[in-house]
Amino acid sequence: MAALALVSRPVSALPRISSSCCPAVLSAASVSTVQQRKLHHAVVPKGKGGRSSSSGIAATVFGATGFLGRYVVNRLGRMGSQIIIPHRNDQYDIMYFRPMGDLGQIIFMEWDARNKDSIKQALENSNVVINLVGREWETRNYSFEDVFVNIPQQIAKAARGAGVTKLIHMSHLNADIRSTSKYLRNKAVGEQAVRDEFPDAIIMKPSEVFGREDRFFNYYANMRWFGNAVPLMGMGKKTVKQPVYVVDVAKAIINAVRDPDANGKTYALVGPNRYLLYDLVEYIYAVAHRSFLPYPLPRPLYHIAAQFFAMNPFEPWTTPDKIERFHLTDMKYPGLPGLEDLGITPTTVEQRAIEILRRHRRFRYLEADLDETKPAKTVSY
Ligand SMILES: NC(=O)c1ccc[n+]([C@@H]2O[C@H](COP(=O)([O-])OP(=O)(O)OC[C@H]3O[C@@H](n4cnc5c(N)ncnc54)[C@H](OP(=O)(O)O)[C@@H]3O)[C@@H](O)[C@H]2O)c1
Repeated sequence: MAALALVSRPVSALPRISSSCCPAVLSAASVSTVQQRKLHHAVVPKGKGGRSSSSGIAATVFGATGFLGRYVVNRLGRMGSQIIIPHRNDQYDIMYFRPMGDLGQIIFMEWDARNKDSIKQALENSNVVINLVGREWETRNYSFEDVFVNIPQQIAKAARGAGVTKLIHMSHLNADIRSTSKYLRNKAVGEQAVRDEFPDAIIMKPSEVFGREDRFFNYYANMRWFGNAVPLMGMGKKTVKQPVYVVDVAKAIINAVRDPDANGKTYALVGPNRYLLYDLVEYIYAVAHRSFLPYPLPRPLYHIAAQFFAMNPFEPWTTPDKIERFHLTDMKYPGLPGLEDLGITPTTVEQRAIEILRRHRRFRYLEADLDETKPAKTVSY
């Protein structure tokens, strides 16, 4: 039923295949056959639910080439969805997506986030749009305002114009107009801008996400390169974190796409436990079998140090804004639905930490048992 609800887009919007998709796809799709059908074959649910069936979902995933993107595309592909991936990469860098879906079901398109036509073209054949565009630092070309407000607003506007039935927008748990982090202030403005353009949008507010390619656990674990010395504001004893597992976030997105009641809702996606930042980082080092040498660093000094790393024109390891964000306590939203409301049991840090941290171990501890590591202390505030 949920899948059928997705196919209720105007027929005129469905059959066109963009001229900028790859030639193989164009030749595979017989345009004349498609036009005689009432519904485009890609959005008629059929089959047993595996990758060779049809889920009824034709999804455009903006920002698919990032951390979360591969998990979302993988889940969409394995249930038989057509996925359009707008990207700005070299095509050989995104070939890892190919096996995630059935033949011809994953379509790559180059896009330019500043070009409205390019956004329109990327989503005009989809009934689902997922916006995962994000950046942890500002660049010369794109400010946080561009990435978190203007681009999402243009995507929402184009999605509404194209008659898209589901728009999923990724925000952040701590998005707040009064935040000390510019990233989080812009996330709050972006949320509102998307809601104004597309009132039925589903807004996801995850806390810091952990997973193999994350920039949270790996960030702290990589401080081993500085002799295991970990600077923490207030020794991390004033910050409470509730990290969420990347697979749970990807599942939440898919379940929200399939749930007809999810439209217009905002979800707070958090893990099951809250930890003091100090205890969490101590646990990270315990799992990695590294000695943990935390030291308190006052905010102004930490900012100066981070400013130095932020000068890296490629991928800064940290920035003043990032350390600010990491030292903010995760907000509680008792009034908002969460993972459980989407049928997901949240994964604990202890269940998955080894997946991320094994590679930070010394060779001699590579196989060491996780049972020896004491779980991190949790807090209830
Ligand atoms: N990871 C977390 O812990 C976390 C927590 C809360 C919320 N979120 C939010 O969840 C979303 C996905 O997170 P993520 O960790 O997967 O992000 P990510 O790894 O940084 O990936 C961001 C994606 O956005 C694309 N992008 C960035 N700037 C762009 C631009 N100017 N034009 C076109 N594409 C652009 C990137 O494309 P390129 O590959 O071409 O650069 C990449 O595909 C983001 O909105 C993020 O803010 C993440």
